[in-house]
Amino acid sequence: MHIEDLVKLAGGINNVYRVLLPEGHLSLAVRDPDLVDELPAGTVLRQVIDEWHLLDLSDDSVAEESLFRIGREIEASQRENIRQFSHPTSCQYRPAWHIAGPQGLINDPNGFIYHQGEYHLYYQWSPVGCSHTDKYWVHTTSKDLLNWEWDDVALTPSDWFDSHGAYSGHAVSLDHELMVFYTGNTRLGEERHRQTMQCAAVSEDGKNLRKLGPLIRDLPPGVTEHIRDPKIIHRDGRWLMFLGAQTTEMKGRLAVYHSEDLHHWEFDRLYGDELGDYGYMWECPDIFEIDGQYYLVFSPQGVDSGSPLNTVPHQNRIAHLTFGENDEVILSHLQPLDYGFDFYAPQSLQTEDGRRVMCGWMGLPDEWTHPSCRSGHWVHQLTALRELSVKNGKLIQKPQKELEKLYSEVREYLLEDSRVDLKTKTFELRTQLAWGSRLRLFEDTSFFAELYLDAEKRCLLFDRSHTQLEEGDTAREIQLDSGVVDLQILADNSSLEVFINGGEAVMTARIFTPEGATQVSVKGKATLQVCELKVPEMPYLR
Ligand code: FRU
Repeated sequence: MHIEDLVKLAGGINNVYRVLLPEGHLSLAVRDPDLVDELPAGTVLRQVIDEWHLLDLSDDSVAEESLFRIGREIEASQRENIRQFSHPTSCQYRPAWHIAGPQGLINDPNGFIYHQGEYHLYYQWSPVGCSHTDKYWVHTTSKDLLNWEWDDVALTPSDWFDSHGAYSGHAVSLDHELMVFYTGNTRLGEERHRQTMQCAAVSEDGKNLRKLGPLIRDLPPGVTEHIRDPKIIHRDGRWLMFLGAQTTEMKGRLAVYHSEDLHHWEFDRLYGDELGDYGYMWECPDIFEIDGQYYLVFSPQGVDSGSPLNTVPHQNRIAHLTFGENDEVILSHLQPLDYGFDFYAPQSLQTEDGRRVMCGWMGLPDEWTHPSCRSGHWVHQLTALRELSVKNGKLIQKPQKELEKLYSEVREYLLEDSRVDLKTKTFELRTQLAWGSRLRLFEDTSFFAELYLDAEKRCLLFDRSHTQLEEGDTAREIQLDSGVVDLQILADNSSLEVFINGGEAVMTARIFTPEGATQVSVKGKATLQVCELKVPEMPYLR
């Protein structure tokens, strides 16, 4: 049977919301089973989990062009259906200048790149509800890395190869086009068997991405369906693709492919054995150079955090990456990128003036119950952009220099066992704290977040147990050896990003306290330099 005939039987394209191809058979997920026509022999309608599927059991091979046409029609109706979720709700927890979704759940930054005079930042979006459902890519653009404009939804989960999510990936800027690579995620049958393919899409200017379909359809040997999040680099005259992967022995590894033309890919091998058991899955690799040295940033799952306070299996790491004589990948010198609560799946780009700038997901997998879900039907956001550099072998992370353009007049407060009401939750605060002192932020009579310099343990404790947090760990700590501790804190309504000792360490956290919790206090003595961050116009992001 032709796919068009099956669509007619299904009650028309408006009644179809997925097209699938389990083992070569055609399957359409329908919205309303009552609209399905009387079925001829060889065709069945059955419930698979909680979806109704019209299955054509004939063994005819299905033309991919027809599947693709149906995909475009599904895409059109998906775009129509989600339009209602692209208007930002008003909510006290909304960031003033960080990127957040209008409604629904957002996660990883994707395709972060400079292309044809503009910065492009896509991100993962589940428009409906605060949960991880079929992911879309949203496209935002900026001329100055500060004012971001929502363009549109760039990829929809509309096709047989990405019906349950256009998952994360990166972009490559070519002379005349931008090419994005992403993972098509599909769930098939009663067991919701995961099918993973590496896909691509192109566009001249980053808008209106045209899907090319899957470029890698089969799994490499020894790997489960958990292989995703392609990152592409060009090296020694050929393209390399890096993917986060899980082996059939449940080990996280890095899968590498190569290609001459970006369209045909050949599997090289898995890397990372030198790390031994390093978690059960690696997600979201990013690879880049700083001062001629390669680095791998990735998100290993199931690695021991090294701290009893950190109970989350989802970690972030940066490693040195060297290419051996035969181009083999060797990883060493692993360290966390962020010692806070909420930093995952970061991506970076090279700016027009040569800086390496990174953006992370301010959120974590398996965690979505936050106060903003109830008050504004949205959850999670992206982090501030940070500039990476290496000084004397140490990784340094600093807030992007463009943020200075948002500064207004600096106010200075000398606090000694006292507090001040800043009357805002959107500011930058700089201070030097002595050991033994405590700094409380976003404070009212009942709520606050606290940074405590424990002189005995020589560690900075970040405590968010006195906030409206509903899920997640409440404390983090980091060992420090400096005489005093220098802090640069970015506060934006429901987040604190703490840059420590000139960017030698960073701690990122979502912090929910009431709107009126605008006080700051010090136990001990410290001078605070505070400046409000004047907010640019980002109508669709707030
Ligand atoms: C990381 C991740 C990626 C995946 C995406 C799906 O947060 O799990 O591995 O591509 O999210 O939204």
